[in-house]
Amino acid sequence: MISYKELGFVNTRGMFKKAMEGKYAIPAYNFNNMEQIQAIITACVETQSPVILQVSSGARKYANATLLQYMGKGAVEMMKNMAQEKGLREIPMALHLDHGDSFELCKSCIESGFSSVMIDASHHSFEENIALTKKVVDYAHPLDVTVEGELGVLAGIEDDVSAEKSTYTQPEEVIEFVKKTGVDSLAISIGTSHGANKFKPEQCTKTADGVYVPPELRFDILEEIERKIAGFPIVLHGSSSVPMEAVKIINSNGGALKDAVGIPEEQLRKATKSAVCKINIDSDGRLWMTAAIRKHMNEKPADFDPRKYLGPAREALIKMYKHKNEHVLGSAGKA
Ligand code: G3H
Ligand code: 13P
Ligand code: ZN
Repeated sequence: MISYKELGFVNTRGMFKKAMEGKYAIPAYNFNNMEQIQAIITACVETQSPVILQVSSGARKYANATLLQYMGKGAVEMMKNMAQEKGLREIPMALHLDHGDSFELCKSCIESGFSSVMIDASHHSFEENIALTKKVVDYAHPLDVTVEGELGVLAGIEDDVSAEKSTYTQPEEVIEFVKKTGVDSLAISIGTSHGANKFKPEQCTKTADGVYVPPELRFDILEEIERKIAGFPIVLHGSSSVPMEAVKIINSNGGALKDAVGIPEEQLRKATKSAVCKINIDSDGRLWMTAAIRKHMNEKPADFDPRKYLGPAREALIKMYKHKNEHVLGSAGKA
C-alpha cells in the first residue's frame, strides 16, 4: 500500500472548491503512455494549470499497473523540476481512476497511489448504483481519497467504456444519490458522449463547407441539477471537441474517420461558468496524436525511429492541452 501523498499527488477536493469559486474547470486528461504524460505535464506547467491525470482500466492494463504507479511518481518529479527550471510555481496534480467498474479495482488503485477514483455504476439500477458507490466512498474517505460517481448514461463506444444509448441524468435523483453515497463529485449525462462520433449526422445541421453542427447540450438539465445540489462539483465526461483540422489531417494521410463530430468549444466554455468543475478529454488527444503520426509517416516514409514520429505527436498534444487550458477550460494561471 502506498499513499498518494507519498507520491506527491493531491485529491480533488481543494481543486474543485477553487474551480467552483473561480468559475473555471479542472482539465482531466487521459494518458496511456510516456509521450502523453510528458505532454500533459509540460502543457500544464507552462500554462500554470492544475491537472487531473486520468487512467482508465484499459490504460492500466495497457501500461501495467506497477509501471503506472512509477510513471505517476515520475510525473510529479518531472513537474517539480520543470517548474523550478522555468521559474514557475509547482502545480497541483491528482491521479484519478477513470470509469472504475468495481470496488476491487477502485481499492487496488487507491492502494497503488491514486488520489481520486471514479466508480461508474451508472449502468446499474439506482439502488445498486447507490450501494456500490457508497461502498467505494466508505473505503476511500478514511484514506482522504476523493470519489466521483455517475448518474445517467453516456452513449459512445471506446475500447473499454461503451454504451449504445444515452440516458440523461434525472435531476430528481441527484439529492438522494449525493446524500446517500457521500460522493465528492457527480458525473452527469446532458448530451455529451465518448469517442469521435458524438452525434449522428441526422442529429446535426450541416454548414456549406460540410461541417456538422451538433444540437446544444441540455443546459436546462444542468441548471435543474445545480438548483437541487447547489455548489456541488459536477463532472462532464465525453467533452472532446473533435477538431476538424485534426480529422482532415488524418483523412488526407490515409485515415478513414467518417462523420466525426464533437462538442463545440463555446459550449464547454459556457459549462465552466456553472457548477462543472472537471472536464474529461481523451479523444482530442488521440486525434492529434494520430494526425501527427500519420502526417509524418506519409511525408517521411524512410523514417523508422519512433522518436521521429512520436516527437511531433507529443508537440501536437502540448499545443492542444495548452489551448484547452487557456481558451476553453479557463484553468491556466490557476495553479
Ligand atoms: O471515457 C473513456 C476514456 O476515453 C478511456 O477510454 O477505456 O479506451 O481507455 P479507454
Ligand atoms: P472523450 O472521448 O470525449 O475525450 O471523453 C473522454 C472521457 O470522458 C474520459 O472519461
Ligand atoms: Zn468518460
